[in-house]
Amino acid sequence: MRFRYPLPRSSEITPEALYHSRRRFLQGALSLSAGIALAACLPASKRPVPEDETALAPQATGRADEYGDALTPFEAVTHYNNYYEFSTDKQAVAQLARDFRVRPWTVEIGGLVHSPQTFGIEDLLQAFPLEERIYRLRCVEGWSMVIPWLGFPLRLLLEQADPMGSARFVRFVALHDPQQMPGQKNPLFPWPYTEGLRLDEALHDLTILAVGLYGQVLLPQNGAPLRLVVPWKYGFKSIKAIVRIELTEEQPATLWSTVAPQEYGFYANVNPAVSHPRWSQATERRIGESGRRPTLPFNGYAEQVATLYQGMDLSVYY
Ligand code: MTE
Repeated sequence: MRFRYPLPRSSEITPEALYHSRRRFLQGALSLSAGIALAACLPASKRPVPEDETALAPQATGRADEYGDALTPFEAVTHYNNYYEFSTDKQAVAQLARDFRVRPWTVEIGGLVHSPQTFGIEDLLQAFPLEERIYRLRCVEGWSMVIPWLGFPLRLLLEQADPMGSARFVRFVALHDPQQMPGQKNPLFPWPYTEGLRLDEALHDLTILAVGLYGQVLLPQNGAPLRLVVPWKYGFKSIKAIVRIELTEEQPATLWSTVAPQEYGFYANVNPAVSHPRWSQATERRIGESGRRPTLPFNGYAEQVATLYQGMDLSVYY
């Protein structure tokens, strides 16, 4: 039997207390002469970077997702990280990744596309307008955050590469560099980190490639210079440090579904009704809050994405 999920509350408009960090972003490693467009009527979660250039510090005050839930403080977003290439200790990652080299960096788009391309990261950053997206991130381990990402829809890049009719999946590959990433010396994992999406999931407007957060250039610990964000799926799908994107006909193997297929399925849609084999997924700990809160179907994005899974039995663990 298929589950029918209650729809999330209707969107609320986030308060106009925008933070003003565009200058800081521009002062970072990026040069964004082309990238930023204004569209005042976009909902807060899709608002482009504000043009105001007065304040410099990342601020969470008064800012929230469409449920009214406050942004997770910058300090927590950047110092509580899952990034096994560096460490399995979340609080050690930021320090270990401090000197990670994000330039030069190239990203290849290949496989079943008519126009395979290789981008230098600077060109990629200029290729598409950047938008801010305030998304919940729900880790499969049972904690969550609310993060203001900067990025662009993956769809724009895929359309430019022009997928062939036979393409059904997208495979993502992270950097493999054990010299810089000490965790990759751990032979228990099939490095490099890889992930995958079905093509329709990859083309969905909520799926973005992020290059920054809190109006700043992405820090190494959050996946610089380029990471995927798929907000309705458990966080492990949001692969960091991407170097290759490949269109395939077959469902690709992924690092986690290779290591522990019963625990970390390919789809990995957030689903409070289906437990992980070792713990419940019914509730989560929002970082910065005490106690636990209920986990929402599809992490609160059911209205936008549930139709992608019509006909699939969501009561089984994928
Ligand atoms: N990407 C790579 N390359 N390596 C990783 O270990 N961890 C994943 C995901 N992307 C991971 C990764 C997991 S389990 C989570 S929850 C998120 O990154 C955490 O992202 P954050 O540290 O920016 O919050």
